[in-house]
Amino acid sequence: MRRAACPGSFDPVTNGHIDIIGRAASLFDEVVVAVGVNASKNRLFSAEERMDMLREAVSPWPNVKVDGFSGLLTDFCSERGIGVLVKGLRAVSDFDYELQMAQMNSSLAPVETVFVPTSPEYSFLASSLVKEVATFGGDVSRLVPPHVLSRLTERLASRER
Ligand code: PNS
Repeated sequence: MRRAACPGSFDPVTNGHIDIIGRAASLFDEVVVAVGVNASKNRLFSAEERMDMLREAVSPWPNVKVDGFSGLLTDFCSERGIGVLVKGLRAVSDFDYELQMAQMNSSLAPVETVFVPTSPEYSFLASSLVKEVATFGGDVSRLVPPHVLSRLTERLASRER
């Protein structure tokens, strides 16, 4: 079985992530969306919330599962027999860091990284920008699925109170 992981923070999942996950689902028998739960970054959503939103978003693909991991991504891959990481590349600026991570990961475990070019309509999309725009009342309804939009709106409103 060809099994791949799509790793990330997904805080929250965007249409750009979903595009890459869906394309990975057509390339591999099974895709595990691996949600990093390391407490290194300031998150808007908890790991459980991020995974819930992802589960709903990937429901159209029966061969896609969502799981959380802490510690090293390569340990998660080794434990689950995952040999491929699928990463979206938005622009050349993504490449330097992604290449460094790909090489580090393959030095730690037998894991190859496959880069998938982001669809042009999502090349400017990042969870951090979605949160920033939504915080200041901008329209992000074309950038995230409806169930994520409502959670985002709710969370930002509750922070204002
Ligand atoms: O969506 P992000 O924040 O770009 O995702 C980054 C993530 C979670 C994929 C990356 O930080 C990661 O793999 N973290 C786990 C710790 C680890 O394995 N670090 C070594 C990476 S070379």
